[in-house]
Amino acid sequence: MQTALSFAPLSGVATELLAVLATDIQTSKGSDAKPQPALLTADSAIQAAAASVLASGEFKAAANETVLLHAPAGLAARRMVIVGLGKLSKVTLHKLRDAAGTAVRFAKPRGIKELALALHSSESFLDVLLPAIACVRFAAEGAVIGDFDADTYKSDRKDQGIESFTLVAPERADRAAVEAALAEGMIIGECQNFARSLVNEPGNKLTPTILGRRAALMAQDVGLDWEVHSTEKLHELKMGAFWAVAQGSAEPPALIVLRYTPEGVADGPVLGLVGKGITFDTGGISIKPADNMEKMKYDMAGGAAMLGAMRAIALLKPKVRAIAVICAAENMPSGTAQKPGDVQTAMPIAPDKPGKTIEIINTDAEGRLVLADGLTYARRLGATHLIDAATLTGAISVALGKVTAGIFSNDDSTYTKFEAALAVSGERFWRLPLGEEYAELIRSDIGDIKNTGGRFGGAITAAEFLHGFTEDTPWVHLDIAGTAWIEEPRPYIAKGPSGVAMRSILEWVRSY
Ligand code: BES
Ligand code: MN
Ligand code: ZN
Repeated sequence: MQTALSFAPLSGVATELLAVLATDIQTSKGSDAKPQPALLTADSAIQAAAASVLASGEFKAAANETVLLHAPAGLAARRMVIVGLGKLSKVTLHKLRDAAGTAVRFAKPRGIKELALALHSSESFLDVLLPAIACVRFAAEGAVIGDFDADTYKSDRKDQGIESFTLVAPERADRAAVEAALAEGMIIGECQNFARSLVNEPGNKLTPTILGRRAALMAQDVGLDWEVHSTEKLHELKMGAFWAVAQGSAEPPALIVLRYTPEGVADGPVLGLVGKGITFDTGGISIKPADNMEKMKYDMAGGAAMLGAMRAIALLKPKVRAIAVICAAENMPSGTAQKPGDVQTAMPIAPDKPGKTIEIINTDAEGRLVLADGLTYARRLGATHLIDAATLTGAISVALGKVTAGIFSNDDSTYTKFEAALAVSGERFWRLPLGEEYAELIRSDIGDIKNTGGRFGGAITAAEFLHGFTEDTPWVHLDIAGTAWIEEPRPYIAKGPSGVAMRSILEWVRSY
């Protein structure tokens, strides 16, 4: 998708589809209160073209509601679509991001390859809520995210991608700032789509080795330092927990390490980004039921989010060092697979220290095993602050549904920074507790810890397991099992891989 900027008067914009925004300005609350849709533009030709449909009551300007007009009189555009932003009192930049995605997804199935989205004019009453520069960034993000469909494996694929997207910014906006905001929004949207494209790949097309290769290509492309290791290095580093998962598969594991070192930043924090990269999770010997098992190709979504974030970091160049560690493996049952009851020794925090011993209760609790060694390795590489993302537990969707992802943290100030990042990313996360009472549930009779904690609080005991490996290093854990895959499409985003967490991780990194 090519993007462009225009500062031209709206009625003069020659385009296949001009998208304009509307909000519901109705304020009374009574039962007879009717929605009162109002356009965000003061352009009189646009106002005139929309007058009849706005007066009809057919269009309520609900969030992501659309109405199409052909050959609107007095406009250079061939079609005009009005996109709702919802109630005025609830309008945010996140709603605008969605509305831009909705405009793009409105165009795609109609074979429209080129569209323009009008941002509100600077004299608009919305200028305070939606400052022009931020609008450009958020709208660009939404348009790029909306352009993605998981259709690469359709043999009759008609590429319905948008070729050209123009943002029409207010005439008086600062041009250099608008251009920078457009570039930023595009990068963020593209990095989210990069993560989504990885998550969409089936297990046979994206083995740990191939994920490693894709990570290396990306790193080379954007100028990150990278290393991809396999079996031998796992043994050398004594990554007994990671290897325990990998040992059951004919596909070798990949330990992916990416490094971002900004110029002139020699000290300060080193952020460690650790991702679960299970390219397929059968459950291992504790095998999963057949129903929905095909979805377990997305068990590398945490790793993909980290790769997307690192790509964005390389391009946006924040002044902080970052290291990503992605532990990629396939969780398979086989003659070489680990068994329930096995005891594994995790990577030690220092060469002269013993590694923690883990009693395997359920081989399907494999994510925490690969992450244990990933977190330890990130600490050994010098990470002062940790963040991990993982499709870790089904229990997180029992707790929060498929709407909100889980956060856990051992440090309130690190958590607070993540919360601030959420205000920018607009992603829904909710903090759940850690605590000694939960840690007790994973104490083992035979070793130090066991890899499951029983039926209750499954997302929390999984997080406590990881906590044992981060210890006092400030850390945020993101459980995205319920939100990494979208079952029902929304007007602004396709069904399939969501790319969740990438934007929040990026903003968290940028806040240091
Ligand atoms: N990858 C799964 C978690 C998952 C479930 C992700 C559904 C996406 C959708 C994870 O490895 C797993 O199997 N967890 C088990 C843990 C249990 C054995 C303690 C689970 O949640 O059932
Ligand atoms: Mn599993
Ligand atoms: Zn898994």
